Amino acid sequence: MYQPALFDVDHLASIVNVASVPQRSPFRYPGGKTWLVPRIRRWLARRARAGEFIEPFAGGAIISLTVAFERLAEHVTMIELDEDVAAVWQTIMSDDGAERLASEILAFDMTRDAVVDALARTPGSVPERAFQTVLKNRVCHGGIMAAGSGLLKEGENGRGLRSRWYPETLARRIRAIAAIRDRITFIHDDGLEALAQRASDPQAAFFIDPPYTVPGKGKRAGSRLYTHANLDHGRLFFLADSLAGDFLMTYDAADEVVAMAEQHSFDYRRIPMKSTHHAQMRELLISRNLDWVTQVSEAYPADNDA
Ligand SMILES: C[S@@+](CC[C@H](N)C(=O)[O-])C[C@H]1O[C@@H](n2cnc3c(N)ncnc32)[C@H](O)[C@@H]1O
Repeated sequence: MYQPALFDVDHLASIVNVASVPQRSPFRYPGGKTWLVPRIRRWLARRARAGEFIEPFAGGAIISLTVAFERLAEHVTMIELDEDVAAVWQTIMSDDGAERLASEILAFDMTRDAVVDALARTPGSVPERAFQTVLKNRVCHGGIMAAGSGLLKEGENGRGLRSRWYPETLARRIRAIAAIRDRITFIHDDGLEALAQRASDPQAAFFIDPPYTVPGKGKRAGSRLYTHANLDHGRLFFLADSLAGDFLMTYDAADEVVAMAEQHSFDYRRIPMKSTHHAQMRELLISRNLDWVTQVSEAYPADNDA
């Protein structure tokens, strides 16, 4: 069971207005962590500048991108297993890849037939897969790209498939990331292996946001947000315990996760946040020491000055 109010931070932590944090990712990502950006700044500010910032389950990577743009660490390494998501990052980080991807997005004639046609093709190269992934991410419900997700019908303001297609914004974000790509290394790999390989680096800071849905409470029961949705969470906790560097984990609030945190004597807090549908939800922050979390709303009075 959860700890009672002693560990509850409702009275101290304000719900972050996501719109106040710069959106730097080309993805709209299910489980994206934009709301956590102000706390990540605070977490990293209270220690000597991290050498390597490592995000082993990068997804849309808003945290890694923020750390790279704001130079909150010497270097950023992001890891992702999903081949489609990886293709986007590999393309943006490659010579000319970002420019080609941005141009293709700007040139795309957004009609339902063109979308169906583009998504039906078997990608013949990593850049082709990257374009397909960006498109799919924008035209599927909730940005969910896993098998079984459906195309938007009405979308926002009745704009149908176009309701999340902002080509100029996407091109601008992709070009901006490419401009700082020397600060970022992307690795298409298993995040658990990447953690194990980097466990002995005391200068590293790890942001760990694994795929996880509270059992029985999935937004769409029986379906998945991610193609790679299963993970050995017990092993992840053991790996976190072995890290010489600092780490911050996030999980959906669930009793079994709290139990693992307690088993490893980690500190944890339940944090209020707003889902995309403005429902108030709880997420768990887990680390060795989270005393700094209770000061967040004082340190970031507006949370919207970014
Ligand atoms: C909760 S999401 C991360 C969201 C991310 N923090 C953001 O703000 O966009 C978890 C990610 O882990 C990826 N993933 C699942 N299993 C993995 C594995 N073994 N190694 C690396 N990535 C994995 C999923 O594809 C998904 O993108």
